[in-house]
Amino acid sequence: MTNGTQNSPQNSPDGDPRGGAGRGTAVVTGASSGIGEATARRLAADGFDVVIGARRLDRLERLAAETGARALPLDVTSDSSVAEFAEAVGGCRVLVNNAGGALGLEPIASARVEDWQWMYDVNVLGTLRMTKALLPSLVGSGRGHVVIMGSTAGRGVYEGGAGYTAAKHGVAALAETLRLELSGQPVRVTEIAPGMVRTEEFSLVRFRGDESRADAVYAGVAEPLTADDIADCVSWCVTRPPHVDVDLLVVRPLAQAAQHKVHRVLDREPPRH
Ligand SMILES: NC(=O)c1ccc[n+]([C@@H]2O[C@H](COP(=O)([O-])OP(=O)(O)OC[C@H]3O[C@@H](n4cnc5c(N)ncnc54)[C@H](OP(=O)(O)O)[C@@H]3O)[C@@H](O)[C@H]2O)c1
Repeated sequence: MTNGTQNSPQNSPDGDPRGGAGRGTAVVTGASSGIGEATARRLAADGFDVVIGARRLDRLERLAAETGARALPLDVTSDSSVAEFAEAVGGCRVLVNNAGGALGLEPIASARVEDWQWMYDVNVLGTLRMTKALLPSLVGSGRGHVVIMGSTAGRGVYEGGAGYTAAKHGVAALAETLRLELSGQPVRVTEIAPGMVRTEEFSLVRFRGDESRADAVYAGVAEPLTADDIADCVSWCVTRPPHVDVDLLVVRPLAQAAQHKVHRVLDREPPRH
């Protein structure tokens, strides 16, 4: 997935004279699957000391064994879990706030309040808790970077998606506000806003384990983005020279011109949500 030449001095635009080796500590939340897992692999290959967090420690430990990352249990919806995690991390230069997700696709008229609460808690408050906890060490590193995994759902809306789009709009507002508040401090803030990414679990979680509904999301789409595509975006943002702040990176598959305009080639109509 990654290639060794990325760590050569010529390819080290962040000016690391060791060509990327020893870039400092990068924390990745939600690294037990999908985009977070791919990002952890990529940042480890880039030369970061990676610390990975999520609730499923068994999956993290397998990833740690493969990549040399340090695995720690983390529930971003719990103040005490975040505090314990942050204390165990120690110093940190990059924080990738990736843990998050969607739950349900009901219209507002029949929305479940508890689904919205979960989405707000994991996406928005999880990012808030993690950022608050690690900000002192990010500032102290002298070249900190907060990466926030937003979504194109944070830039537009779609029917049935209000709970998730509201949460991701919240994440986008948090990213923009944080950048203003950190003006003059050595910490960059980047929001990455992916469109459709085919990961193993995102749509399964959204549809509460219903595989046919999860598969229908990607039906007929030639090439949805992959988790590695997004890991590549994270890697690019965090390896720019320290004065270069990529504010917002919106990235979609070619087949998705907009949230509601996806080019599909289908033998038959996809099952309805
Ligand atoms: N897939 C897409 O199309 C897409 C598009 C745009 C943006 N995104 C965003 O990208 C991020 C990753 O999505 P993905 O596709 O990789 O989904 P995924 O495979 O479902 O991964 C979600 C990750 O978040 C972790 N997580 C969930 N609740 C958590 C909690 N309370 N504390 C700590 N970790 C928690 C999960 O780990 P545990 O269950 O082990 O805790 C898992 O590692 C999310 O923020 C999502 O909203 C995804």
